[in-house]
Amino acid sequence: MLSLLVTGVAGFIGFHVARRCLELGHQVIGIDNLNAYYDVQLKRDRLKQLEPFTEFQFKQMDLVDRASIGELFSNHSFDRVLHLAAQAGVRYSIENPFAYVDSNLVGMMTVLEGCRHSGVKHLVYASSSSVYGLNESQPFSTSDTADHPISLYAATKRANELMAHSYSHTFGLPTTGLRFFTVYGPWGRPDMALYKFTQAILQGKPIEIYHGGQLKRDFTYIDDIVEGVIRIQDCIPVLDADWDPKNPVPSSSSAPYRIYNIGSHRPILVLDFISILEKSIGKTAVKTYLPMQLGDVAETFADVAPLAQVTGFAPLVRIEDGVARFVEWYRGYYGV
Ligand code: UGA
Repeated sequence: MLSLLVTGVAGFIGFHVARRCLELGHQVIGIDNLNAYYDVQLKRDRLKQLEPFTEFQFKQMDLVDRASIGELFSNHSFDRVLHLAAQAGVRYSIENPFAYVDSNLVGMMTVLEGCRHSGVKHLVYASSSSVYGLNESQPFSTSDTADHPISLYAATKRANELMAHSYSHTFGLPTTGLRFFTVYGPWGRPDMALYKFTQAILQGKPIEIYHGGQLKRDFTYIDDIVEGVIRIQDCIPVLDADWDPKNPVPSSSSAPYRIYNIGSHRPILVLDFISILEKSIGKTAVKTYLPMQLGDVAETFADVAPLAQVTGFAPLVRIEDGVARFVEWYRGYYGV
């Protein structure tokens, strides 16, 4: 049994990962600030699902509270830290940039410091497909550079990777960054496309489609993401002896540091995604078309070969099945 800290445990990915870790028999301390970025009741209801596990303990804490986070780390000896708390959302970072500075930059900092001082054996943290920014080389590979973000959100996620590298190098802290690709599924985030579209279609309200629905996303089902996280947490990075500082590969290092993509490797047009959703709900959407939004990238497509090589990971869930499972959950949760 491992002792795990999961940050953002009331969030979409944090909740699912924590649940799986508990099912596997690990001990989980979960923290979350339960902020009001979206419906807090949904966050509380996710936490309720975790309550029956005796090895679960929830603490409402904010990562910007350095003293409390420092105390948490000094009172526990975590084998792994799964840092999944963040201010998420690509487009919201245009309106509210400082939320990203607090949660994503300061938050990562307190986690790194906690790991450093308490000798955590592996820090796994959430990065994002959005770090690829202006990169159009497909599929997105972790051997490509990711230094042209087009949203502040993406910039903070890329910054997290760089901060992790400095701690991996300076303090020998093993870190793994996971670039998640548009994650969807039951208990999902209400600010994301699938949730918004489902809600609007069921209420007979128009859905807003950006850029004619011609953007492509490598939508990835939550269970595939969880499987990737579970597998990678046991692959503790070591120094890469083959890493060449004269020809530096971005995804590894002479420090115990790795970066991987986790995606489904099957990008689809948002318009096709909507058709799948309409079929699943059995109702046609009323469509409003809006221009391309600031911060949005045109297409995401994950190269998952490195993750597959190290962990045997293979994305399994087809988009039709994943969307159907989301719709079933949504109808049950809201009773509609
Ligand atoms: C998502 C998450 O919000 C980020 O937190 C995450 O880091 C990112 O995935 C990622 O993969 O890195 P996004 O891909 O924009 O960002 O996910 P959605 O909000 O679900 O949007 C999916 C697609 O639908 C995008 O192309 C977006 O432009 C489009 N969309 C979204 C609409 O056309 N209308 C909407 O109302 C919402």
